[in-house]
Amino acid sequence: MKKELIELRVNGRTHELALEPSKLLLDTLREDLQLTGSKRGCDDSSCGACTVQVDGIPVLSCTLLAASCEGQEITTVEGVSEHGSLAAIQKAYGDWGGAQCGFCTPGFMMTVKHLMAENPDPTEQEVRAALSGNLCRCTGYSQMYEAIKAAIEAEQKGMAAAK
Ligand code: FES
Ligand code: FES
Repeated sequence: MKKELIELRVNGRTHELALEPSKLLLDTLREDLQLTGSKRGCDDSSCGACTVQVDGIPVLSCTLLAASCEGQEITTVEGVSEHGSLAAIQKAYGDWGGAQCGFCTPGFMMTVKHLMAENPDPTEQEVRAALSGNLCRCTGYSQMYEAIKAAIEAEQKGMAAAK
C-alpha cells in the first residue's frame, strides 16, 4: 500500500512519518517511534493495555488509525513524567508495588491520569468504574488500587499546598 506523509504530535514533539493509511496508532508508536510502553494485550479491544491519550482523552491505540490523529496531541506513558520527575501515579506504583509483570501498567496509568484530571476527588466506585476497561492478567488489583489511592491523595496535597 502506498505510504503517505503525516505529522504526529506525541509527548510534545512533532514527528513527520511516512505511513500506510491503514497503520494503527499502536503500531506506529511502537514500530516507528520506538515508544514501546503502550502494549498489545488482546485482539478484541478488551484489555486496555494499549491506552494512550489523544487530546487528553484515553483511547485504545490498537483500534485507531495513526493518520486520524494528525493535528491532535498524543500522550503515551513515556510522556507522563512531569519536568523530569516521576508523576504521582508513577511514584505511587513504585511505593505500593502497583505493578507485577507491568504489562498492563502503562494503560492503567493513562486512564488514571485522565481520571485525576477530570475528577480530583473520586470515590472508590468512581475509580473502579473509570478503570473498568483496563485489565490486569496478574490480578494484582489490591496493590494497584492502593497505589492509585495514594497517587490521588498526593495530587490533592500538592493542589492544596499550591493554593
Ligand atoms: S490491545 Fe487490548 S484493548 Fe488494545
Ligand atoms: S501487572 Fe501483570 S498484567 Fe498487570
